[in-house]
Amino acid sequence: MHAKDYHDLGTPAADGASVTLEIDGATITVPAGTSIMRAAALADRDVPKLCATDTLKHFGSCRVCLVEIEGRKGFPASCTTEVAAGMKVRTQSDALAKMRRGVLELYVSEHPMGSCPVSSRCELETLAGAHGITQSRFAGPKTARHVHTHEPVDASNPYFRFDNDLCIVCSRCVRACEETQGTFALTIEGRGLESRVSASQHQPFLESECVSCGACVEACPTGALMEKSVLAARISSDERTQGACLGQIFGNMAGVISVSGRNAAAERLFRAIQPVMQTAKTMRKLQLPPKAARKSEALSPKLRRLSGPGCRSTSPARTSRSIARLTAGAPRLTFAAI
Ligand code: FES
Repeated sequence: MHAKDYHDLGTPAADGASVTLEIDGATITVPAGTSIMRAAALADRDVPKLCATDTLKHFGSCRVCLVEIEGRKGFPASCTTEVAAGMKVRTQSDALAKMRRGVLELYVSEHPMGSCPVSSRCELETLAGAHGITQSRFAGPKTARHVHTHEPVDASNPYFRFDNDLCIVCSRCVRACEETQGTFALTIEGRGLESRVSASQHQPFLESECVSCGACVEACPTGALMEKSVLAARISSDERTQGACLGQIFGNMAGVISVSGRNAAAERLFRAIQPVMQTAKTMRKLQLPPKAARKSEALSPKLRRLSGPGCRSTSPARTSRSIARLTAGAPRLTFAAI
């Protein structure tokens, strides 16, 4: 997962001769071989995407990045279509918005809004939210779902866990394993509703050829693959702010954690966040987004108290280290992965 302010251009850079085209009326010149998606992002006309990221080759599976090209029929995927001289592209129209909403609702039917343990890091939920989607027309007990969504969480790896229920089968993890790491430990097995991410021969991650490099976790656009340390540290929807707040809970400056009296401090922290965590577990299990939203609203005063005024942003890694340090001498306390 990139830093929050990282501008992902969707596909890698190309190095061909210069090509000039028009995107939403803006003229831009890019190297030949550049995707329309990347050219649009360079022109500050970002096209929605899920399966594309500029650290991996284009793949073209999610179909949310469709655009219109003057003189061409249909709606090509901007991540797999290269720019051409004189091309005129539209990234926004009523027809495109309707199609994108439909595609996103299909994803949300299997991955309800609010189901990711850290929603602020879920590209699908962020994108669906930006399109005004709160629930899916296609969700329901009679709707066929991918078989993988019924599988248990694979927590065998000591550093991250894989929750099939949150996977949208975009293949970013599989491609990262191949292109970034060259390990080839992951594949997509099956087809249609039976397609799923599989480690080696459908084995737990720890028993597979996975080398725990974390490239797949980095590439995952949802919370399907997530570091256990981030899950353990997740005590509010904004983990960056909460990281700074840990020190403040114990009366220190933001980001400063005292190790003295850590058992008592850790216990106090655990008691404070336990109701929040249990509610999050219930939300996840029942998958009731509207109710979950109400519960989360009711809990917000508690979260605000934990945050306190004047919190400064810090990194999730610092949060994880802080909790690990605080709990090191307190084996009775466990921070459950939600
Ligand atoms: Fe283009 Fe997924 S981003 S098809």
